[in-house]
Amino acid sequence: MRTAGNVPHPIPYQGSKRWLASTICGCIPKDVRTFYEPFAGSAAVSLCAATCLSARHFVIGDLHQPIASLWKAIIDAPHDLADDYERLWNEQERVGRTHFNEVRSAFNTSPKPALFLYLLARCVKAAIRYNRNGEFNNTADHRRRGARPETMRENIVRAAKILDGKTRIHNAHYLDTLKDAGDNDVVYLDPPYQGTSGDRDNRYVKGLSFDEFCEGLHQLVMRDLSLIISYDGRIGDKVYGQRLPASLKLRLFEVKAGRSTQETLLGRDGVTYESLYVSESLLDRVPRLPRLLLEPAKASEERLLFQ
Ligand SMILES: C[S@@+](CC[C@H](N)C(=O)[O-])C[C@H]1O[C@@H](n2cnc3c(N)ncnc32)[C@H](O)[C@@H]1O
Repeated sequence: MRTAGNVPHPIPYQGSKRWLASTICGCIPKDVRTFYEPFAGSAAVSLCAATCLSARHFVIGDLHQPIASLWKAIIDAPHDLADDYERLWNEQERVGRTHFNEVRSAFNTSPKPALFLYLLARCVKAAIRYNRNGEFNNTADHRRRGARPETMRENIVRAAKILDGKTRIHNAHYLDTLKDAGDNDVVYLDPPYQGTSGDRDNRYVKGLSFDEFCEGLHQLVMRDLSLIISYDGRIGDKVYGQRLPASLKLRLFEVKAGRSTQETLLGRDGVTYESLYVSESLLDRVPRLPRLLLEPAKASEERLLFQ
């Protein structure tokens, strides 16, 4: 397997799993036909898997239409997208502080991929936020100007190169994206955090409740699909979100994400652990799991060593 170093990341995205991507790719068996990422966002894991040549085909899906359109533009017309981004980026110098709001209004009228990419590159924490009317309403981070055009172009063009000719993009609910997934495939699921997923979540896509997600997972487990699932985690002893039910027969691992600054400031054990669930079908196909995957008990032992 080639190393995961130097993976292109064209889409700035709050909650991107790029830090976890090479660990997840370590769980992908050699004989994978298609790698599915149906909650794609910035598709950090697909990009890593494509860089490492871990699969022959890729399916990138997201229910949020601007994300799916942006992925289509990256793969089908990378140079046009990079040119449009460059034009927007250069305009900000000339127009000044009002520029971001003008781009935001243009996007809210006509949601073109380059406008969306520029908003993500310039907005606070690269976070997608919409108001109740469905208008993008995050504000500009005036401390930075967004990735330079040459850096953005390099990331877009390299992402296109590793995905072109072997990738399908779906703007769909994750279960629809997975309709054709089978035994030789691997599926990575990274649904929205439980805290942001109530039925009243009106930020941009309808929330996915815990029960609804468990029901969907049940269907996927019954199909014997090889699944890797990110689902919340914990900081120190505090677990965020409900654990997935034992009836799904998923094995829970934890991956150390680092110290939470907030908790360290409060003088508490602030190590954050991300939960990663792996289905039995996948465990049967992988002879050795990555060293960084810790059984929860092992992670707790390690935590005690740090106290
Ligand atoms: C936590 S983010 C994924 C981040 C991604 N792993 C990355 O590295 O950037 C979850 C994504 O799922 C999408 N989403 C939310 N509900 C969905 C659903 N029911 N089906 C498909 N996608 C959904 C959101 O638009 C969002 O982009």
